[in-house]
Amino acid sequence: MFSSKCFFIFSFSLFTLYSCVNRNQQIPLRGIISEKAMVSSAHPLASAIGVEIMKNGGNAIDAAIATHFALAVVYPQAGNIGGGGFAVIRLNNGSINSLDFREKAPALAHRDMYLNADGQLIDLKSTHGHMASGVPGAVDGMFALHQKYGTLTMAELIEPSIEIAQRGYTLTPLATKLLNTKQEEFQKYNRWSTPYQSDHNWEVGDTITQPDLAKTLENIQTNGRNGFYEGIVADQIVAEMQIGEGLVSHADLKNYQSVWRKPITGKYRGHQIISMAPPSSGGIALIQLLQGTEDYPISDWGHNSTKTIHLMAELERRVYADRATFLGDPDYIDVPIDQLLDSAYNQKRYDEISFLKATPSVLVSSGKIPPSESPETTHISVVDANGNAVAITTTLNSSFGNKVMVKGAGFFLNNEMDDFSSKPGSPNQFGLIGGEANAIAPHKRMLSSMTPTIVTYKDKLKMVVGTPGGSTIITSVYQTLLNVIDHGMGMQEAVNAKRVHHQWYPDEIRVETDALTENVQNDLEKLGHQLRITDKIGRMDCILVLPDGRLEGGADPRGDNTALGY
Ligand code: DON
Repeated sequence: MFSSKCFFIFSFSLFTLYSCVNRNQQIPLRGIISEKAMVSSAHPLASAIGVEIMKNGGNAIDAAIATHFALAVVYPQAGNIGGGGFAVIRLNNGSINSLDFREKAPALAHRDMYLNADGQLIDLKSTHGHMASGVPGAVDGMFALHQKYGTLTMAELIEPSIEIAQRGYTLTPLATKLLNTKQEEFQKYNRWSTPYQSDHNWEVGDTITQPDLAKTLENIQTNGRNGFYEGIVADQIVAEMQIGEGLVSHADLKNYQSVWRKPITGKYRGHQIISMAPPSSGGIALIQLLQGTEDYPISDWGHNSTKTIHLMAELERRVYADRATFLGDPDYIDVPIDQLLDSAYNQKRYDEISFLKATPSVLVSSGKIPPSESPETTHISVVDANGNAVAITTTLNSSFGNKVMVKGAGFFLNNEMDDFSSKPGSPNQFGLIGGEANAIAPHKRMLSSMTPTIVTYKDKLKMVVGTPGGSTIITSVYQTLLNVIDHGMGMQEAVNAKRVHHQWYPDEIRVETDALTENVQNDLEKLGHQLRITDKIGRMDCILVLPDGRLEGGADPRGDNTALGY
């Protein structure tokens, strides 16, 4: 365990580092380079904690766990212990694995729980307030990862987060702005004043201390997984549920279990792609998109050129149609993974793509799978000095989840239930259409787009990537891979590059401001594409292994994301 004196020095150096990071707002074109090990995450303090863990002898998995707990303290809009996520792991001996610690529907959940008597969706029911919460998986996930791969004690990995919860952390400009926009919602969904509420406007540099969260983390530190799923914290969660119409019960919490799943793998221009299996759609969709890209010389066509964007949009509308039809929790439905990854199946679908005009989404449906066959998020990338790599994407779903902080326990709950198709055929908050495969059922996991991904080349680690962004996660990861592999960009440049996104419905290409020249926009419109200019897509946290073995970080300037290493 960290002694408190040693930890005082450690946290002091974190605070010093944090102020340096804050002062230095300029984003270098090339990302930070480190010799041995690196963490890229949504917050400089969380990345610094991960790096410190590795300097103290921890491996990449230890660092990722410590970073995850730290994000629960300093990045409450998405970092969490009340949510869930996925981890993809590749050890330096080449072995790969992935962990599903996605939330589950409570036992009392049922298919029509968000519909009124007329069968219509009740506004905000699946996104705001107690009833939107699935059973959290994050704490169980961290313990499962640690049990299999950890080297330091869990107490050591949690300690830095307890210290920051007790001593406080300071607000960045982006965090300040976000908190000030959420005050009304916090007030509406909490009957007490959470540490994130203030009767004046938050200001940059204000300090937030979280004594209740510190106690909860201490409980987990002392009692392990059961310190969250049983005992006082479980009582606090269930008491909070009873204030609203929440369904999560003691039995739901006690019985929650993360699941080790076989990662989804595929090839792209000699690279091996290792990504997340269902209940995330990320791995399958990413590999379907890459299969459709491989036959075309997109590096000759150019980054964000008309032809490249047209191809990407046409592939994306078809892949998201498959997502809506076939994907869901594999413990509840038969997901036709092999067929969806079959190159002949995808080729047949992509053969219909015309380069002369866009196909309206109304004419696109999922492919035909033979019936006789089985049927505000955040990302952490870590590489340690021995070449072990972890990609974790974790979420509360919306920013600050369902906006409810568990009274006495100090953490926000997820609103992951909205990732189910509350009414099959109707869009969720990300505009995603879901089908029967993703209908609500007790204990089922909701479909996700999270795409934590590791890439190797000639059996050597090359990239660790991932991002938040709801439905845009898959296409942000896709574009980042293309930026490095096809367009020859460095990691930071690939992350900085402007993004576009198509998801079948709505039938439009979402375009980040300044992503496309006016000529390209006009040409795409002439091909029949609808364009919608949007603010920011994604907040990537990536690491690239350079040819000489050093590591280049790619931390998204769209957020406070920071890559640090040594
Ligand atoms: O699992 C999913 O696909 C969503 N719950 C992710 C939400 C998300 O990325 C929100 N962040 N911007």
